[in-house]
Amino acid sequence: MSVNVIIGTQWGDEAKGKTIDILSAKSDAVIRAQGGNNAGHTVVADGVTYKLNLIPSGILHKGTLCMLGAGMVIDPRVLVTEMEKLSSYGITFENLKIDPRAHIVLPWHTELDRLSEAYRSKSNSSIGTTGRGIGPCYADKYERCGLRMYDLTHPDVFREKALATGELKNLFIEKVYGGKALDLEAIIAEYTDIGKKLLPYIDDVSVLAEKVIKDGKTLLLEGAQATLLDIDFGTYPYVTSSHPISAGVCNGAGVAPNVVDKVYGVAKAYTTRVGEGPFPTELFDETGDYIRNKGAEFGTTTGRPRRTGWFDAVIVRHAVRLNGITDLVIGKLDTLAGIDTLKICTSYRRSDGSIIDYFPSVLEELADCTPIYEEFCGFDDDITGCRTWEELPQVCKDYIMKLQGLIGTKVSMVGVGPDRLQQIEI
Ligand code: IMP
Repeated sequence: MSVNVIIGTQWGDEAKGKTIDILSAKSDAVIRAQGGNNAGHTVVADGVTYKLNLIPSGILHKGTLCMLGAGMVIDPRVLVTEMEKLSSYGITFENLKIDPRAHIVLPWHTELDRLSEAYRSKSNSSIGTTGRGIGPCYADKYERCGLRMYDLTHPDVFREKALATGELKNLFIEKVYGGKALDLEAIIAEYTDIGKKLLPYIDDVSVLAEKVIKDGKTLLLEGAQATLLDIDFGTYPYVTSSHPISAGVCNGAGVAPNVVDKVYGVAKAYTTRVGEGPFPTELFDETGDYIRNKGAEFGTTTGRPRRTGWFDAVIVRHAVRLNGITDLVIGKLDTLAGIDTLKICTSYRRSDGSIIDYFPSVLEELADCTPIYEEFCGFDDDITGCRTWEELPQVCKDYIMKLQGLIGTKVSMVGVGPDRLQQIEI
């Protein structure tokens, strides 16, 4: 029996999908615990590329129990479309379970996400959200007026709550933002239909997880987004609205933290972020473009080009502390091939000349920091065919060992390409 957690250590898009897929193959059950279709996982398996936004990639492994936890915000339209797409590849859903407590993203959430971002952009203060209604949905959850999966799958309850909340949301859309009111009856008709399709999958994920653990099986808790997008410990306000750290993932799954065995932290061999906000090691030159193009650094969900930069050990140490990471996974090492000199940020220098080795708690302090780098000889070798640690060129092994030393946590996997086979276990 083991319970493992997987977390992103940077600003998301660390190629977690592949590691989740590899660990899912060794797990009896997987729970996605927070976030919604702001996340996107790409998994390449047997030559087929699967793009998943809500459903854990464990669904690709027959027999794995795949659960959407109470901490998620689920856009039912997107979920049904994702299921239809997967069905066309012959994937079935007898092992899919959705917690009735999970909140649902409704059309007013996406509309308010769009309108508030447009409003903020007038004063150059947009967050750069994915526009998927995630923030407004979580805001309703904490305002205690959200609708949940239970409501969606019970038509009378849904109608009553959707009308009450929808009328208020229309007032906001019209009177505050000058937008166009949504047709609530059309929404109720469409979503009641979707609710009927999803009813068979509703079950208490926390209770199911307890059974998995008591039966001595292996459970994987999957975090979406990443540590620096955490609402408390990320680069607020340029963050998501949930807790993509290990404690938040336990919470969203309904699993007690003391049953967790391993926490896998995934980092890219460099750094990227989408949306607005500070990024100390960002590259604005041709090396940044090279990494973006070679690493296909364009959002799975939105298609936006990702900002690119050098590996930042300060950030990953911050993630290790917050998440209790036991195993690091360094992804996309192959992307760095062809760069003459590689840099790693080891600490930050403040304007008063002092040096800090921790990530500042607020943006105002981060803005005062410039990265201090160590330089490394790059490599030209195509490493995408390497399958063992021994096969990696010495310069790559040195780079990984340097990261391990700077972060102070064991690196247990290295990614050298998108396929699940292109992952070297150390
Ligand atoms: P939201 O989660 O759509 O509200 O977006 C808030 C911030 O989190 C924006 O900067 C997004 O680009 C970022 N974000 C949300 N989900 C992801 C993700 O899965 N990967 C990377 N960035 C994300």
